[in-house]
Amino acid sequence: MSFLGKFFSRGGNKYVGIDFGSHELKAVQFGGSSRGAVLEHVYRVSTPANGIKDGVVSDPQLVGEALRQLVADGAFTARKTISAVSGPTVVVRQVTMPVMSERELRDSTKYEAERFLPYSVDEAQIDAKILGKADDGQNMDVLIVAAQKDLVTSQMSALQFAGLTPSVVEVEPFSMVRAMIASDDPQYEQNIALINVGAASTSINITKGGHVPFTRNVPIGGNAITKAIANGLNVSMEDAEKMKREKARILSQQDTGPVPPTVTRIFNVITPPLTELVTEVHKSLDYFRTRFRGETIESVILGGGSSRLENLDAFLSHELGLPVVLASPLERSIHDPADFPADFLRDAGPSMIVAAGLGKRDLASDGRAGAAA
Ligand SMILES: Nc1ncnc2c1ncn2[C@@H]1O[C@H](COP(=O)(O)OP(=O)(O)OP(=O)(O)O)[C@@H](O)[C@H]1O
Ligand SMILES: [Mg+2]
Repeated sequence: MSFLGKFFSRGGNKYVGIDFGSHELKAVQFGGSSRGAVLEHVYRVSTPANGIKDGVVSDPQLVGEALRQLVADGAFTARKTISAVSGPTVVVRQVTMPVMSERELRDSTKYEAERFLPYSVDEAQIDAKILGKADDGQNMDVLIVAAQKDLVTSQMSALQFAGLTPSVVEVEPFSMVRAMIASDDPQYEQNIALINVGAASTSINITKGGHVPFTRNVPIGGNAITKAIANGLNVSMEDAEKMKREKARILSQQDTGPVPPTVTRIFNVITPPLTELVTEVHKSLDYFRTRFRGETIESVILGGGSSRLENLDAFLSHELGLPVVLASPLERSIHDPADFPADFLRDAGPSMIVAAGLGKRDLASDGRAGAAA
């Protein structure tokens, strides 16, 4: 990018990072400054019922209306957006290929992707990037990212219904890394598990040095916990949701004080979905350790709305034998405490992990807005 290009784009090229969650639509906007990205707007609204399923916006007009509300009520000033796709059809793969130009790569990627995509390449939106020379010194390492086209096109049409301009669509794991790990962080060169426990699903990713060698999505999250409370205690889904937020707590042997009977009952009914979740995380981390022998995972960053379930961090830490911290993507960013009180940033932070990372994309390292990739 030329120096002049950067100069002209200053101030004009702002983006709203939008996370299309099945439970909530979340948005974050940053502004550029010489000190880095400055937090400007954070907002979320409920996703219309059945508006998003398996990452696909099933009703773009309805979701578009909700997005319009989100942008208006959150007082966002940018109209260009950066959003992310996620789910089981999103594939991130590093492969080794013979040295070739970017242009030749575009044609070869399709054939390469055919080998590992679980759906037809004709249904896929595929992108590839040359990472550099492979360890053998002859071939090159290439990053291939693919998603089912429906995911991308349905989001774009919802954004257009909202009067917004889709600028970039990326994949969720990269936004999470950008939100939480910077190249000057001491943990940058360590393997960190980034786990996003949402409503319909959980994504489990491992990152090191800005790369994401492992990503997986499992269809279990907050909805399964709410359902377990509704069925187990014979209450409506609305009441179960409220009980989950207000009374649910994961109990442990360390709990010495008296525990109210409702808390114990809730704990008993949510144990099966929690066990299933922790089993999936275990399997993923074990797979990574086997696939990349010699690599150790140092810690876990936990995000997503369901990470707010009381004691989920301590429970995972105990089960995995690793330190677990709650994601704090907003607290990490430069902000004015008069606009964003510490409590607000701490409470909202974990569920904003994807939106915050998206909002930060295309702010160059000097904090100024740059052109879209
Ligand atoms: N304090 C809380 N305690 C427990 N669960 C909570 C709390 N706050 C929110 N949740 C749960 O978090 C989930 C929403 O999280 P999030 O916003 O990350 O999901 P989403 O991105 O909309 O969904 P998905 O990514 O699965 O499509 C809901 O299941 C909600 O019940
Ligand atoms: Mg989500």
